[in-house]
Amino acid sequence: MTSSVKQPASARRRPWLGTSWKMNKTVGEAVDYARVLAQWAQTAHVDASVAILPPYTALAPVASVFQSLVTRVPVQVGAQNMHWEDAGPHTGEISPVMVRDSGASVVEIGHFERRSACGETDATVNQKVLAALRHSLSVVLCVGEDDATRDYGVVREFVGMQLKIALRGVAATSLGQLIVAYEPGWAIGNSGTSAPTEDVADIHRYLRGVLTSLYGTHAAQARIIYGGSVSQQTAPRYAMAPEIDGLFIGRAAWDVADFIRIIEAFCATRARCGDSTAEVAECQ
Ligand code: PGA
Repeated sequence: MTSSVKQPASARRRPWLGTSWKMNKTVGEAVDYARVLAQWAQTAHVDASVAILPPYTALAPVASVFQSLVTRVPVQVGAQNMHWEDAGPHTGEISPVMVRDSGASVVEIGHFERRSACGETDATVNQKVLAALRHSLSVVLCVGEDDATRDYGVVREFVGMQLKIALRGVAATSLGQLIVAYEPGWAIGNSGTSAPTEDVADIHRYLRGVLTSLYGTHAAQARIIYGGSVSQQTAPRYAMAPEIDGLFIGRAAWDVADFIRIIEAFCATRARCGDSTAEVAECQ
């Protein structure tokens, strides 16, 4: 692995590690998880921001665990999706007002599963991004190609287009609230395989270039993270690449002890080599 791009201090971003629980966990299970994470976050010494994205039913109870709690490691609670309108005749939907009301401060938009199974389009993703920012929610904006797109060799064009459409109308001053999650569809879930670090770093550099072409120096405020079959074993590998600002994790983080281990493993490796020109051998 030859990721050795030295970042100027001004571009250094605190790593962001989040987990979406997808359609898993009852309220009781979710709160138990949150309590353990809260306890850890009060004393842990890692340089990272952490986020958990429960299902809607557990959003408010989980957010209340962290309410008025001072943690050494910041923990955000987030929703996995939302509608772009504040209210209206949208049966089964949740609005940004409701997401805020639950105590959440972040929302995931455009996950591969929602794009492929729920009719999410680049246009609706854009509307949701704008609505989230209007309501002062941070956004985890998911982009990523499927198998066929990869086989055709147009991954950069594809994710670049997803990113540009998603950000239409977004002001440069909002970029600090933006976390772009590169999550190739073929890497996600039980049948997925995690993407090689160098390939991820390459796409991240490309996405960073797209952001810079749109926003100039403001682009440095946005994070670009990776998701797709991340595990305790692969997390440190991704931490070695300074282009990767964090991880978005599914299955491997649904047990709170495992999530904490992944966070600690990523941060330990990042502290050793994520911001240096050291070669991999020096980082291990
Ligand atoms: P996975 O899910 O880690 O279980 O592959 C990642 C995601 O869908 O964000």
